[in-house]
Amino acid sequence: MPQKQNIHVLVTGGAGFIGSHSVDALLEEGFDVRVLDNLTSGAIENLPQHEPRLEFVEGDITDGPTVYQAMQDISHCLHLAAQVSVTRSIEDPKYSGTQNIIGCVNVFQQARLRRLRKVVYASSAAVYGNPSTLPVEERTPLAPLSPYELEKQVNEQYAALFSAQFGLSLLGLRYFNVYGPRQDPKSPYAGVISKFTDCLTRSEAPTVFGDGTQTRDFVYVKDVARANLAALLSNHDGVCNVATGTEVNLLELLRILSIALDVHVDPKQAGARIGDILESRADVTRQLDWLDFVPQWALADGLRAYIVEALECGLPAVSTACVGGPREILADGKFGRLVPVNDPVALAKAMENALSVPADREALKARAQFFSIDRSVDQYLKVLLPDDLNGPSA
Ligand SMILES: NC(=O)c1ccc[n+]([C@@H]2O[C@H](COP(=O)([O-])OP(=O)(O)OC[C@H]3O[C@@H](n4cnc5c(N)ncnc54)[C@H](O)[C@@H]3O)[C@@H](O)[C@H]2O)c1
Repeated sequence: MPQKQNIHVLVTGGAGFIGSHSVDALLEEGFDVRVLDNLTSGAIENLPQHEPRLEFVEGDITDGPTVYQAMQDISHCLHLAAQVSVTRSIEDPKYSGTQNIIGCVNVFQQARLRRLRKVVYASSAAVYGNPSTLPVEERTPLAPLSPYELEKQVNEQYAALFSAQFGLSLLGLRYFNVYGPRQDPKSPYAGVISKFTDCLTRSEAPTVFGDGTQTRDFVYVKDVARANLAALLSNHDGVCNVATGTEVNLLELLRILSIALDVHVDPKQAGARIGDILESRADVTRQLDWLDFVPQWALADGLRAYIVEALECGLPAVSTACVGGPREILADGKFGRLVPVNDPVALAKAMENALSVPADREALKARAQFFSIDRSVDQYLKVLLPDDLNGPSA
């Protein structure tokens, strides 16, 4: 593994979901980072503010001079920028191809001109289509089902050519289903976890396409960020799965989420979607060999952390004894109670229940100040509690 010094990383798409977590991980490891992003689906708020080792450049990966300029003094590139919607790629393949093929080739070409030491780029498990055997190994024949998936396959072919003919070191990562904070549930293309969570927190029925027995290999975004880091520092070229090597079906996922959120609604059933992958689980042998990477987040833990972070972004929560902070709320279903967003009646009811137990009421009053998740509790304390309980610290 190469030394970490003199590494300056360009992250394309760094203001997006996977990108911003990767930026966090790179900064934590002490690297200097530059982000190139056109903010079409990413947001500047996803990035740490006032971080001297982070530089943001607004620009487009399809523009040669922009990318060449952004690669000045850069040693490594993590290329994540893409048009990420399968649906859009079907509706507008020309646009999608321009972003995902021309943009990617441009990044490879500028990296070649700048003589970068390594480019790690985002491929996708979608390149496998509907695999006939599980777990899916990297050598499984590819069978993309949409323009987006084909574009990722073409990226891999360009990468192989740039490695073989021009000596550029390129490693493509086939991410399986990535989930976690900062994945925008409002996007029609958001992952199933953020969509289910969004529905449940509103006590709305999520839609399950097909019979719900489709399986996915869900990998937590903070693990993906670690895999990206390991890939940047690895000496391998080629393609590598990034996944947990375990699968869960969508009905089971919904069950876990319902328990975690304490919201139980029957899902709406809809017909299976064309091209929907039935089963997915990665072979993670190469991930271990090449990246020395083992995911740290089991699905239940990842979901819990994800929900907690989603709550911190504004969903109200009621808790009575969470001394350790937000993470305890879901860990301890006895004291913690989550309330759907925009539902003041449910919140008031939950508060009332909590406040009816004197010990809980005291605990709440004493502890609400300690964790940010109870900003909303602070607010409701002012409304619901008599003055004598509504002291300066509550
Ligand atoms: N999220 C997943 O489950 C998943 C799975 C497999 C592969 N991937 C791949 O991982 C990468 C990151 O995906 P994500 O989920 O973080 O998506 P995202 O939409 O959150 O991030 C993409 C980022 O790229 C930026 N961008 C888009 N087009 C650009 C352009 N022309 N120039 C500059 N910036 C541009 C967007 O503004 C955004 O910040 C993508 O290449 C995606 O195809 C994601």
